[in-house]
Amino acid sequence: MAIKALGYVVIETAKPEAWDAFLTRIVGAMRGDDAPGAALYRIDDRPFRLRIETGSAERLAAAAYEVDGPAELAALRARFVAAGLPVEDGSAEAARERCVTAFFRASDPAGNRLEFFHGGTPERTPFVSPAGVSGFVTGDMGMGHVVFAAPNFAETHAFYESIGFHDTDVARYRFSDDPADPGMGFTFMHAANGRHHSLALGDIPGPLFGCLHVMLEMKSQVDVGRCHDRMRAAKIPESATIGRHVNDRTFGFYMQTPSGFDIEIGCDPLVIDPAKWVPTAHMSPSEWGHRWAWQDALEAGNAAGDPPKAS
Ligand SMILES: [Fe+2]
Repeated sequence: MAIKALGYVVIETAKPEAWDAFLTRIVGAMRGDDAPGAALYRIDDRPFRLRIETGSAERLAAAAYEVDGPAELAALRARFVAAGLPVEDGSAEAARERCVTAFFRASDPAGNRLEFFHGGTPERTPFVSPAGVSGFVTGDMGMGHVVFAAPNFAETHAFYESIGFHDTDVARYRFSDDPADPGMGFTFMHAANGRHHSLALGDIPGPLFGCLHVMLEMKSQVDVGRCHDRMRAAKIPESATIGRHVNDRTFGFYMQTPSGFDIEIGCDPLVIDPAKWVPTAHMSPSEWGHRWAWQDALEAGNAAGDPPKAS
């Protein structure tokens, strides 16, 4: 069973206007054709990669992964059913809205919300970033990655392995110099493509707005730096300063979306050979940089800072 890549994300928000400004002016995504009750945003030649649905919650409503065809989709659906996990088939109309042939909704053992789909219609008009981004790196590697929280970490990790995700890096991060600090477990998992991870799990309570962050990859450091400039000019909260990750080598930063979770903007990642990769085990998330806002909040004596995030 193979998962191809992260295809799109669905976000539920009561602030669609704030999301529109955030995606078009700060991230540099292009508004696509609207769907009923949703606005669609493009970062490449697909009709959309981010679907913003107006609702009452602020959350990532689904991370949607692509599979090869109807047989793979049916086999995957059967795994969820066998595991006693909730599954809901997408209607023909909802599939049409997503520009896919068929999909189903599901939840992982931690309650994180997913969709799986096959088929799709390429967009006919070229992608042009309204903010001047030279481009986003997608293609076979998908739109980026999503990081979920999973308090039932071992069970959730094992389930993802059973449906076709594979470990790239099994990490335990210490965010302090305290030798008694037990650290925090994360696992970074790849799909059947060269992206270091298409999904990651943190051994922490959740859900926090449905996910910890969504990552998008830009083509160059100039693109990332200019996006950072736009974030600062618009006074968007910076969640982590510019830095470089140890495991996937990505150069980038994190900022807060209008719904509360983060978006990671990066470039120049390590590209793996998924057929030959031997999982690594890192103890630190960052080679340099990535000073987290919650670290500043803790230092300032505010113990109510947000919990840590990972690459
Ligand atoms: Fe990340």
